[in-house]
Amino acid sequence: VGAGFAAELPKLEQKAKYKVGFAQTESNNPWRIAQTESMKAEAEKLGYQLVYTDAAGSAAKQVADVNSMIAQKVDLIFLAPREEKPLIPAVMAAKKAGIPVILLDRNVDQKLAQAGKDYVTFIGSDFVDEGRRAAEWLIGATNGKAKIIQLEGTTGSSPANDRRKGFEEALKSHPGMEIVASQSGDFARDKGRQVAETLLQAHPDATAIYAHNDEMAMGAIAAIEAAGKVPGKDIVLVSIDGTRDALQAIIDGKLGATVECNPRFGPKAFATMAAYAKGEKIPAWVKNDDKFFDASNAREEIANAY
Ligand code: AHR
Repeated sequence: VGAGFAAELPKLEQKAKYKVGFAQTESNNPWRIAQTESMKAEAEKLGYQLVYTDAAGSAAKQVADVNSMIAQKVDLIFLAPREEKPLIPAVMAAKKAGIPVILLDRNVDQKLAQAGKDYVTFIGSDFVDEGRRAAEWLIGATNGKAKIIQLEGTTGSSPANDRRKGFEEALKSHPGMEIVASQSGDFARDKGRQVAETLLQAHPDATAIYAHNDEMAMGAIAAIEAAGKVPGKDIVLVSIDGTRDALQAIIDGKLGATVECNPRFGPKAFATMAAYAKGEKIPAWVKNDDKFFDASNAREEIANAY
């Protein structure tokens, strides 16, 4: 902490129009595209100027993107931090420049930065609970007996850390549920397919796959089929997000279930910003509620999917 560093969270002036930054982490999956569309649509509705950047999967670029927003003197920065630790300097630089930050959908390391002190709040889902709900579904679907391959999200990201934690904790009281392999597929379809292919070869006795997002589950389905096995029968799959492709895979009997992680942040993000400008007390965590999709509701829910 250098001399002159503000200990206080920067305030936000009440104005009719704002210039707001949104630092996105990547755009390689439908979830990210839906989140960006929701943020852009809400900014447009309000008549605000949105400075949008896409870090293309690089935490270093995302730090540079935030620094560029600071140089452009935006009023507030919405940040979807790719990983928990590398984005801390960006949060601190914005604070030092007197620009409030709201974290969207992913969190930063709580030992290094805190809501209400270094950034305004974290708006997003309970990732630990998502992992727990995925585990509970899988325990039921396999009668408590499965050899599981876990496809993890981006290493060092809060959803990967927490979805793993929630899932593994829920399995502890079920000795028949064994994780035989766990590896990152970086939340990407292609990487998920490649990793699933390798792990299915190394563990031909695997009976289930838990993917930290739907894109990796879609990749895993392709890998299972390429291995001459039947997804949904030989290998049971569960994942997280609730994309259109995932709901279609549930309808087709290939994916068992997906825990929703809602990407439509726009209205809540800008409403939280307005409340902060008014001087209202913002909770450290503005929580999103998530639904659950399986064979019982996929047909009716697919109409709303992205
Ligand atoms: O942070 C949320 C996760 O990030 C979504 O589950 C995933 O699809 C995205 O890339």
